[in-house]
Formats: sequence, C-alpha cells, structure tokens
Amino acid sequence: MDMFRFLTAGESHGKALTVIIEGLPAGLPLTEDYIALDLRRRQGGYGRGQRQQIEEDRAEILSGVRHGLTLGSPLGLVLRNRDWSNWQDIMQVEPGAEASEKLTRLRPGHADLAGAMKYGQDDVRPILERASARETAARVAVGAVARRFLAEFGIAVRSHTCAIGEVAAQGQGEPDWALVEQSPVRCADRQASERMVGAIDVAREAGDSLGGLFEVWATGVPIGLGSHVHWDRRLDGRLAQAVMSIHAVKGVEIGGGFALARLPGSQAHDVILPADQWGDRPWRRATNRAGGLEGGMTNGEPVIVRAALKPISTLGKPLPSADLATGEAIEAHYERSDVCVVPAAGVIGEAMAAIVLAEAMREKFGGDHIDETKRNYQGYLSTIGPRGRE
Ligand SMILES: Cc1cc2nc3c(=O)[nH]c(=O)nc-3n(C[C@H](O)[C@H](O)[C@H](O)COP(=O)(O)O)c2cc1C
Repeated sequence: MDMFRFLTAGESHGKALTVIIEGLPAGLPLTEDYIALDLRRRQGGYGRGQRQQIEEDRAEILSGVRHGLTLGSPLGLVLRNRDWSNWQDIMQVEPGAEASEKLTRLRPGHADLAGAMKYGQDDVRPILERASARETAARVAVGAVARRFLAEFGIAVRSHTCAIGEVAAQGQGEPDWALVEQSPVRCADRQASERMVGAIDVAREAGDSLGGLFEVWATGVPIGLGSHVHWDRRLDGRLAQAVMSIHAVKGVEIGGGFALARLPGSQAHDVILPADQWGDRPWRRATNRAGGLEGGMTNGEPVIVRAALKPISTLGKPLPSADLATGEAIEAHYERSDVCVVPAAGVIGEAMAAIVLAEAMREKFGGDHIDETKRNYQGYLSTIGPRGRE
C-alpha cells in the first residue's frame, strides 16, 4: 500500500474542493497559515485572470491535526469556492435546475469534446468543471503538506520560470530564489522578466495566450530515493508522470533532458569526485546534467525537473470550432480566462514534485511518529559513506 497518498474532489464552480491525505507520521507541525502561503503563490503571477482576484484560497484543516501537530490519522482539507453564491443554480446538487442553458461551443485544446463523448453528455459544463485547472489548488494544498514534511529533513522544493513564449531567461545553474519570488512572472532574470510581462500584455491585447517553460529544483534530497528494480518504482518516471499530469504541460525533462541527446557521452555525464572534494556531504559530482537522478534513484545532487506548457486554449478571440449539438461551425466558448499560467504552473510543479519526494521519503524511512522517521533517516545517513576495505 502507498505510504503517502491523496484524493481530491470538487468542481471548479462547485461548493468546495476537498482533499483527504493519508500517510503522514504523527508529530509533524502543520497549520492552515503554512498551507495558505503556497495557495497564495499559486494564485499570483502576471497573466492570471479575474478569478484570482475574486477568490483568495484558504485550506481549512478538518481533521488529522490537533494543537498544531499531525495525529498520524488522515488529514481532511476543504477549500471553499468563494464565488459559489454566483454559481448555486448552475451547479446545484439537488435535481430541479436542469433547465439551465447548455454549453455546446466546444473549445479546441480542452477536455470538452472527448469528455462529452466519453461521459455521454450533451452539455460541456459537466466536463469542464472537473477538467479545469481549479483542481490544482487542492494539489498545491497537498504539496504544502508534503513540503512541511520534507522540511524536517532539510529538503526544499522551489521553481522558476525559464521562458514565456519567445522570451527566455539567461543564466544557468541555481537561480536567486529571492529574485524569483519578487518577479511578477517568477523569473530571476530581471530583463527577461520585464520582457515576459510585455509579451503577456501583447498577447492579451491580441486576444491570444502564451505558454512557456518552468523548472523545479529540489535541494537537500538524500541519495537513494526511488529504485532501479521496477519500472514503476523509478523516481524519474514518477516525477515525470506527476509533473506531466499538470493541466497544459506537454513536455517534461529531467536534468539536461532533450539537450543530452545531442551530446557525446564524454560531455553528458557527471564525473564522480574523490572524497577530498566532497565538502559537507558524501559523494559529490563535478556537474549535475543528470538532474539528480540516475538509475531511477536520487544521487544526492539537486533534483531538477523542467516542464513545457502549451498556451492555454480559451482565447479572447475564440478559435473556430464546431457545436456539440449540431456539428455546425461556431466559435469556441469564451469564459473569463487566464492569458499565461506558466508562473502558477511552476508552483503546481513544486507541489507535484514535493508529493512524489514525500512519498519516496515515506517509503524509505517509514515511521509512525516524525521522530521515528528522523531516527531511521539519520541511521541511513550514517551508512552512506565509502564502503571501506577489510
Ligand atoms: C494554473 C492553470 C490555470 C489555467 N487556467 C486556464 C484558463 O483560465 N483557461 C483555459 O482555457 N485554460 C487554462 N488552463 C489550461 C487548461 O487547464 C488546459 O489547457 C486544459 O486542461 C487542457 O490541457 P491538457 O490537454 O494538457 O489536459 C490552466 C492551466 C493551469 C495549469
């Protein structure tokens, strides 16, 4: 059974998003304010639509925490949709409001068409309500809980925007995270940041949208999470799946990723340094082209995952489409929408990476109380130096 798992429920304009998280040890400090920090970061970012201003997300902890510490029991969270009062009729749970207008203008690039066929709907509303990226608010709440657990072991998970449309950030290596958090587009390169804002303005004016690239960094990750022994235990595969599952993500790279395919082997790997160059932890590399993952396991270097987002598909100038009811040519439906979601997607990427890493930490170190998990972790760390010779 998975040691750390979660389920979310909730429609975009329903009453609330709800979450159950299972598998945390007891004794972990956790507050609603801590979770709220990440929810706020997800709602920020230049290029978001009106909804982010209407609603400030907050996760209420319903169960699993007492006096600021986890109990080891399932955690129940609820994120109420503050706009619910405007949607009570359209999203009414009880029967009796079926006469409301049906949405039949299919949006290319969304779940609308395939979802309506698959679930036997003559209205797109029942599909788009759950297909919407609103659900990622619940994932970010779970990610915050995972992040709180990882922090006990000195693991930090961060993200930054590498590109929006044609504008790419300059600079390699770990960015200045304080600058990332200050930037309206979560990019440490100030000049690129300004040009990204400009590009978003141009796209908005044109009734268009923009995609881009973000990168997630996890630092302080111990060597040996994940496993080489089965395809579904490989941590690179699990991270890729988790990040690819974010709405509009169309590509995922680990470390050097696609660029490694063009290099000779002599330039693609990370030389293992001798002990006199290790500094404060065992086993260091000269470079980190592997993005901290070899053989499906962490190798002690920062874990680096990059993702490509397609531009969002609800456009101010809607795309040509067909009507679900008649098949006739029609413009796609327009509902208030974001123009660029790359900065927010980075925060969601952090959440997904934190969830996968928390799972992997729970698998390796177990423990019913956080102190037990820490003892197991320390015991393992004491074994990972050079093996020595008799
Ligand atoms: C944080 C976030 C917010 C989004 N907001 C919108 C939006 O306002 N309008 C829209 O059309 N798509 C939005 N999207 C993108 C759609 O959710 C996405 O294009 C759709 O789910 C189909 O993508 P898929 O083919 O990758 O599943 C958003 C995505 C993310 C990650």
